[in-house]
Amino acid sequence: MSKQDSHFINVFGIVLGVLVTVAIVLFGVARAVGNSTQRQEVQQEDLYVKAVAARIAPPVREAVAGADNSALAIAAPAASAAPALPMPADGAALYDAACHTCHGPGIAGAPKFGDKAAWAPRIAQGTATLYKHAIEGFTGQHGVMPAKGGRMDVSDDLVKQGVDYMVEHSR
Ligand code: HEC
Repeated sequence: MSKQDSHFINVFGIVLGVLVTVAIVLFGVARAVGNSTQRQEVQQEDLYVKAVAARIAPPVREAVAGADNSALAIAAPAASAAPALPMPADGAALYDAACHTCHGPGIAGAPKFGDKAAWAPRIAQGTATLYKHAIEGFTGQHGVMPAKGGRMDVSDDLVKQGVDYMVEHSR
């Protein structure tokens, strides 16, 4: 073996040794980080445990009579249906709750509350027509009047009172 070759082997051996050492050190550091107690703490944390339990729980849970069903309450939706809107007491209250949106500012082509000029030709049609249009809704030259102003839960009578209220203040 020439002197050059043995020199190469020596240097190459040292380089290899250093690389292997670095690799082992990095491996050790990676293991230490991955196995740190931090991770175990997270896994034992209350919220984490609960979240996992919720994810692996069966999709349907039944309340059993006589048993403790408190766990079900967490998953059950708070309210099954949207709460009903409060029922307006009279025409004025209905106006405030359902008609003012459009008829207050007179938007979307709605005849404005108190606007005599806008209401005169409508009032001239007769109350029966106004009632009908307010209850059933109608599309005129100015825009769309939705049936009952969108409050399908109120009685026809209450809508008539709402019309009366608007008409009284607009003639
Ligand atoms: C989304 C907007 C909107 C709401 C809410 C609304 N209106 Fe109207 N209303 C209109 C529009 C627009 C017109 C005019 C349509 C046209 O003439 O083209 C109208 C017209 C009317 C008319 C006149 C009908 C006619 O024959 O000329 C009456 C009466 C009326 N509305 C009553 C009501 C009452 C009562 C309520 C509440 C319960 C209400 N409106 C809520 C938009 C609305």
